[in-house]
Amino acid sequence: MYKKLIRPILFLFSAEFAHKLIIRLLRTAYMVPGIGMLVRMVMAGQIKKLSINIMGIDFPNPVGLAAGLDKNGTCTRGFSDLGFGWVELGTVTPKFQKGNPGRRIFRLESDHAIINRMGFPSVGINRFLMNLRLFGKKGIIGINIGKNSTTPISQANDDYLMAMRAVYPHAHYIAINISSPNTTGLRELQSGDNLDSLLSCLKQEQIVQTQTRRHYVPLAVKIAPDLDDDELKSIADTVLKHKIDAVIATNTTVTRPGMENALYATENGGLSGKPLKAMSTEIIRKLYNHLQGKVPIIGVGGIENATDAWDKMVAGADLIQIYTGLIYEGPGLIRRINRGLERRLRSAGSSSLQDTLNEARSGIRLMR
Ligand SMILES: Cc1cc2nc3c(=O)[nH]c(=O)nc-3n(C[C@H](O)[C@H](O)[C@H](O)COP(=O)(O)O)c2cc1C
Repeated sequence: MYKKLIRPILFLFSAEFAHKLIIRLLRTAYMVPGIGMLVRMVMAGQIKKLSINIMGIDFPNPVGLAAGLDKNGTCTRGFSDLGFGWVELGTVTPKFQKGNPGRRIFRLESDHAIINRMGFPSVGINRFLMNLRLFGKKGIIGINIGKNSTTPISQANDDYLMAMRAVYPHAHYIAINISSPNTTGLRELQSGDNLDSLLSCLKQEQIVQTQTRRHYVPLAVKIAPDLDDDELKSIADTVLKHKIDAVIATNTTVTRPGMENALYATENGGLSGKPLKAMSTEIIRKLYNHLQGKVPIIGVGGIENATDAWDKMVAGADLIQIYTGLIYEGPGLIRRINRGLERRLRSAGSSSLQDTLNEARSGIRLMR
């Protein structure tokens, strides 16, 4: 029904308008009492056996909503009821900002891809927290934080600290976004001394917050797919050094793999969806080798079905997230991925996702 009816209607509108429409519809629907239960009954179904403990958090299933769709924290309940194991909200910046001007999302339909250059439009941290109170929270929530575009890179740490302190009591984990290609200079935070300094001060703040609030909230760093081997190794070393709790791989790419001549391919921005899939899986594979399984990986990039999800998991991802796949395949994709993963467990004769993954990964590595 989604692909035959809903998607063609949504695709009549510009991508950003369709996005706003979905958020508004979900928000309005949730004013009707009992709607959550109904959505959950129709969409989520019974997902058994897929719970997994990562970063000390019990995820009911490994399929999460990637950052960027619910930037302002207005639809947590709606997305959670669709069957996601958790939702990642944001990116939220300390202060309100509009993001980049003009048209900033492009659908590349025949490639099942999107190019976006949104540039972190954000209501700012205070309004974001008010939204969470106003519209409610449900399930497991990651909050993805970034810096304001007007903050120079030399003062970026202050923005991340400010955002982290504010969201700390409201998040199950906090994602540090240093990989959006649409905020000038942001990706410089992934390199050398910049990353070392940022992670060092966020880790110190995590210790302070844990002591004062008596509650540990894990930190996950979100990285780009456009990294060479040395850069990736250096990030992995810094993550291990500072005992960061997870890495999210990956954000969108500034390259245009195999689609140089596609409509909109020359638009500036980050590319997501199918053409990103192999690239992000390769980053996960290399990252897993560097991290040696000591730090969990959340895999994201171009997942459109259970096989794509499984490929990322065998490459090293413990959890996966979707965004562009949801736009092209619809919310039924969440259940299809979970069902596909359940089938893998059944045919492996296992009742634990973690055990099945460990086995599959060691098999692959022995074969190499
Ligand atoms: C329109 C759009 C907006 C996005 N905004 C954010 C964002 O605010 N923060 C972030 O960390 N990632 C953002 N992303 C990146 C996604 O979270 C994800 O990492 C990327 O799209 C790859 O996954 P996919 O191929 O399943 O979409 C955005 C992606 C899209 C398409």
